[in-house]
Amino acid sequence: MRLCGVAMQPLRPVLFHPDVPEIAFIEQTLLPGTLETRSARTIQELADAIRRLGIRGAPALGCAGACGIALSALITRESDLTKFISAVRHDADLLRSTRPTAVNLFYGIDRVMAVVESAGSVKDAQVRAVREAEAVVDSDRQTCHAIGNHGLQIVPHGARILTHCNAGALACGEWGTALGVVRSAHEAGRDIRVYACETRPLLQGARLTSWELERDGIDVTLITDSMAAVLMRKGEIDLVIVGADRVVSDAVFNKIGTYMHAVCAHAHQIPFYIAAPFSTFDEDAKEEMVPIEERAGDEIRMIQNCSIAPRDIKVWNPAFDATPMNLVTGIITEHGIFRLPRDIDLIKEKKKSSGREGFPA
Ligand code: MRU
Repeated sequence: MRLCGVAMQPLRPVLFHPDVPEIAFIEQTLLPGTLETRSARTIQELADAIRRLGIRGAPALGCAGACGIALSALITRESDLTKFISAVRHDADLLRSTRPTAVNLFYGIDRVMAVVESAGSVKDAQVRAVREAEAVVDSDRQTCHAIGNHGLQIVPHGARILTHCNAGALACGEWGTALGVVRSAHEAGRDIRVYACETRPLLQGARLTSWELERDGIDVTLITDSMAAVLMRKGEIDLVIVGADRVVSDAVFNKIGTYMHAVCAHAHQIPFYIAAPFSTFDEDAKEEMVPIEERAGDEIRMIQNCSIAPRDIKVWNPAFDATPMNLVTGIITEHGIFRLPRDIDLIKEKKKSSGREGFPA
């Protein structure tokens, strides 16, 4: 990646250092002002980082969950295999309790937990857990580049793209999902322009998406969430691409506000795409089965520690919403672009052939 002729380091928000052992992560709550790496050396520290959105975004949560179980395996002081597995299970439960909506977190935890539970000794469990966690992170990186490449077929030259929240490198192993498509299109010389919605209440669009794209020299304009409909009506948006926290058979869960953009895009006949890896698919589930995280009221009453509403005003603060599948033009994945429910059997088939049956995808 280049900016004004200077090579930019790829953004990698979660890095596992088994030799320390620790999980190094970009503390995303400090961006865009400060780019700082912090580390978690205990599962409690990792769980706190996830809860406060120091680490965030569905695929990055998958990486954190996988690395978290490997970290737990390395720091658990227990020589008896049964007691060891039960201690790591306890840490897995703590990580599972942090955020309920993004299925990738459970996918990452379950993948590494499966190798721990089938190990023949503590040492074997540790070696295999590290290997599996590294495989989860590596495959997420490759997956994002593949999503970017498949996405090229829906991005015309000069496209004006609207996105919401942050589905970029910061939310993944690197590159991004929705922003992965944007990055691949930029790299292919498509001369695209991006409108980033600020994404109230926690401003992932303003703080993270606009920062990431500007850093890569991609044309980005920041708007408030309420400005998207007007831009669509004026004919200034060619397509919408957003990420996902969970894809179920009849809906897509993503950051609160996504549904509003999908309804507006539908009203203006603008294609509305989701970019998400198979690890975000939970296609046997239905919308009503998925818990939507509700976060603290002060996230709405305040902006960056500054009060903007009466101190005790009642608020409702769901972190995500569900967009019904009939509003989704297509889902850009590492295996191509799919539609649900039309392609459900194809997706299940691909899952089976990649040996990931039993995992979300
Ligand atoms: O609450 P967050 O910041 O974790 O929410 C993130 C999103 O909703 C993203 O759009 C989604 O995880 C996709 S990231 C590739």
